[in-house]
Amino acid sequence: MHYLRAVIKETRRLHPPIPLLIPREASQDVKINGYDIAVGTMVMINAWAIGRDPTTWDQPKEYRPERFLNSSVDFRGNDFQLIPFGAGRRGCPGISFAMAANELVLANGDDQCLGNYKRPGHMGLA
Ligand code: HEM
Repeated sequence: MHYLRAVIKETRRLHPPIPLLIPREASQDVKINGYDIAVGTMVMINAWAIGRDPTTWDQPKEYRPERFLNSSVDFRGNDFQLIPFGAGRRGCPGISFAMAANELVLANGDDQCLGNYKRPGHMGLA
């Protein structure tokens, strides 16, 4: 189960289903990282690029779930290097439901497909 969660994290890091999240609009003038953002500016957050940022991730283009096995990085919106569900007040409220559904389907799929892939005529995932 620990590894399965790491697989889900790694897949979401590389392929966030909503790559630019939901657009924000600045409600006041603000300066972030030296950039002046005027009130009313629409701000797009590129979660896809953040998940592949080489200054944050080792070998970012490699699919390597193991990177999460001894890491506390999670996707609940507190670790900004991994935000497939967004963050802040408009972050996804369905995270727990989505994760339960993902784990159920993948764990069951593993049993149904990967577990039986040697059966003659059975089309497995492996
Ligand atoms: C793998 C599954 C899912 C992914 C990757 C996902 C991802 C996202 C993302 C990226 C956002 C925008 C967050 C932001 O811009 O900060 C969002 C918003 C939202 N999600 Fe999900 N979501 C998933 C499943 C679900 C489920 C299962 C539900 C409901 C049961 C749900 C309900 C919502 C709602 C209502 C919003 C809008 C929140 C708002 O604008 O205040 N999502 N989701």
